[in-house]
Amino acid sequence: MRTATVTIDPTAISHNLGEVKKLAPTSRVLAMVKANAYGHGVAAALPALQAADGIGVATFDEALEARRLGWQKVITLIEGVFCFNEWQQALDIECCCVIHHQSQLDWALACRPAPSSPSRTVWLKFNTGMNRLGFDEASLIQAATKLHNAGYQLVLTTHFANADSVQNPLNSQQLRRFCKMLKYLKTSISADIKASLCNSAGIINFAPYHFDWVRPGIMLYGSSPVTDQSAAELNLKPAMEFSAKIMALRTIHQGEGIGYGSRFVAHQDTNVALVSIGYGDGYPRGVNSAAVVCLHNTANHQRYLCPIVGRVAMDMMVIDVSHILAPIALDSPVILWGQTPHIDDVAGFADTISYELLCRLSLRPTRQAVGA
Ligand SMILES: Cc1ncc(COP(=O)(O)O)c(C=O)c1O
Repeated sequence: MRTATVTIDPTAISHNLGEVKKLAPTSRVLAMVKANAYGHGVAAALPALQAADGIGVATFDEALEARRLGWQKVITLIEGVFCFNEWQQALDIECCCVIHHQSQLDWALACRPAPSSPSRTVWLKFNTGMNRLGFDEASLIQAATKLHNAGYQLVLTTHFANADSVQNPLNSQQLRRFCKMLKYLKTSISADIKASLCNSAGIINFAPYHFDWVRPGIMLYGSSPVTDQSAAELNLKPAMEFSAKIMALRTIHQGEGIGYGSRFVAHQDTNVALVSIGYGDGYPRGVNSAAVVCLHNTANHQRYLCPIVGRVAMDMMVIDVSHILAPIALDSPVILWGQTPHIDDVAGFADTISYELLCRLSLRPTRQAVGA
């Protein structure tokens, strides 16, 4: 049987959440599980996130799914709702909503949750320089005043544009604007207004600004959110292994090409293995010539890094195994990403980010969880 497998390790997610808590011990944690827990599967991720104080999702359907799976703590819709009907539905399942524009404010004022409902807390989004979502200064103060007077508890929130690169001057500008606004709201509206600023990179790079809620995403899944420290240096464990198996072995003679476009031409006789995985499973087609996979040869229980040669196709790829002198067993597992190579390295081979690789896995690979 063809094998392409995504294996999730929930204990790695719990471990990484523990690292977040060590870095931000006094903040509550809103664990981001949008986009199916960054491709890991929300059903596998939620049990591993029991120690989080809440979860963040991007769509109402994601919130509904989390409730269906039994998540009873805070759920924050990080883009808020998209229409009045959805606002009412969000109240029904007791979500907290971000409010980032006038219509959302109007819906919140038109239909208020019961005083005891968790939906009574709204996250008010301030545009501090990312220039995607959020109110400007004047309209934010107006919105905060109206919401407070209507009985809502407020969490002032914003999102860093460049938290991964600590030196970027926009960081200090965003921080300055955020802190100034928070101070103003606390003194002029309510000292009880809460704040949330940091995503994963912010948690690592901006420790003095963790405030009441941190919002880790990618680091929960074991990928480094910053440019200058690896996941291993941050003690983050990869929560996903993407693997396949060797489906054929052959020798390419000197001067012969391999695969579509004959992109790779053998300079010498080359032993290759065909691996049963391709872009139809979610492996990026556009990897560069540095791309490697890790072959676990079941014939001798040794592990070998092997370069990908030729174009990645929809259902298979070819790897160079010439450096392996021992016999290679058909059906030996090949790790596309996991411990080695790490997904951050694969993202580098493909000139993209780990987030995209994780979210772009297709439905074809078999999914399993360690220990399930
Ligand atoms: C508003 C908000 N907060 C937090 C996060 C988590 O970011 P990261 O995965 O970089 O930690 C995201 C992700 O896009 C987000 O949109």
